Amino acid sequence: MDMDSPPRYPGQPSGVCSDDGIPVVDLAVLVNGDAWERAQAVRHLGRACQDWGFFMVTNHGVPETLQSAMMDACRELFSLPPEQKQEHLDAGPMDPVRVGTGFNSAVDGARYWRDYVKMFAHPELHCPAKPESLRGVAAEYAACTRGLLLELTAAISESLGLEGGLIAQRLDLASGLQILVGNHYPPCGGGPGDDGAVGLPAHSDHGLLTLLFQNGVDGLQVKHDGRWLLAKPIPGSFFVIAGDQLEIVSNGRYKGVLHRALVDREQVRMSCVTLIGPCLDAVVEPVPELAAPPLGLEFRGVKYRDYMEHQQSNKLNEKGALDLVR
Ligand code: SIN
Ligand code: FE2
Repeated sequence: MDMDSPPRYPGQPSGVCSDDGIPVVDLAVLVNGDAWERAQAVRHLGRACQDWGFFMVTNHGVPETLQSAMMDACRELFSLPPEQKQEHLDAGPMDPVRVGTGFNSAVDGARYWRDYVKMFAHPELHCPAKPESLRGVAAEYAACTRGLLLELTAAISESLGLEGGLIAQRLDLASGLQILVGNHYPPCGGGPGDDGAVGLPAHSDHGLLTLLFQNGVDGLQVKHDGRWLLAKPIPGSFFVIAGDQLEIVSNGRYKGVLHRALVDREQVRMSCVTLIGPCLDAVVEPVPELAAPPLGLEFRGVKYRDYMEHQQSNKLNEKGALDLVR
């Protein structure tokens, strides 16, 4: 074997997980690999979803320039004077554009400190009017990441022993929801009397799959084997987070992973997040093939809109929202 060649999926362990053991999925192999390579990659993806609910994706095809443009547009939004964001400040979780501070501010006060913008991006893009650069960038970014998320969904479907298109079809992803989120965590903590402010408390995501990248400042932690692990990205990669709808549709085979965000003491931390989920009116339930006896159904069906409202309802703790459907 040529020792100078870069780690090549799937034969070498260095190509399949990061130094911390976080699984790494090479999309180029999933899309262009030969039959054997693809089969290995699909199996590896399945294990990542089952053991972690979290992985990194490399060679994903989303241009770095587009990632940077999206981050820049969010940064510009956060630097606008408050009156230019006012319009969306009191929006509720089901409003298509929402700008706010705090995840659970009614309950937690300033302990969880972040500013955010949330935009529904599919079936239709909704955007704050300012900054003007945002709409064009968000449209392109949403379309490009959506393609990637759908590729991953198809491979995940295969990893469950299903047809590639089955999950997309069951959840009506063609008319499904996509949300873009920009998060901005001002530097905080470390002083006398510091009560341990974090950016975002532990939660699992309400959707199917989430894609996330950050501005070079670490802070995302995932819970793995009962411990919180700081996720350090391979440059240029995305983190992929399995959401609750994947847990439901897979009948619990794959887990919506608990994660949280820390704030940095000195630097602003930012993350750009996008998630896809079912059509809001779709009733999501386990795929029957995955619940055949002796397994039985782990979850009852729930309309995604109801689930999302429940998950966003400020009453949750680390247990998450899945209790609603158990
Ligand atoms: C999120 O979970 O939505 C954001 C986490 C992060 O900022 O890393
Ligand atoms: Fe999240």
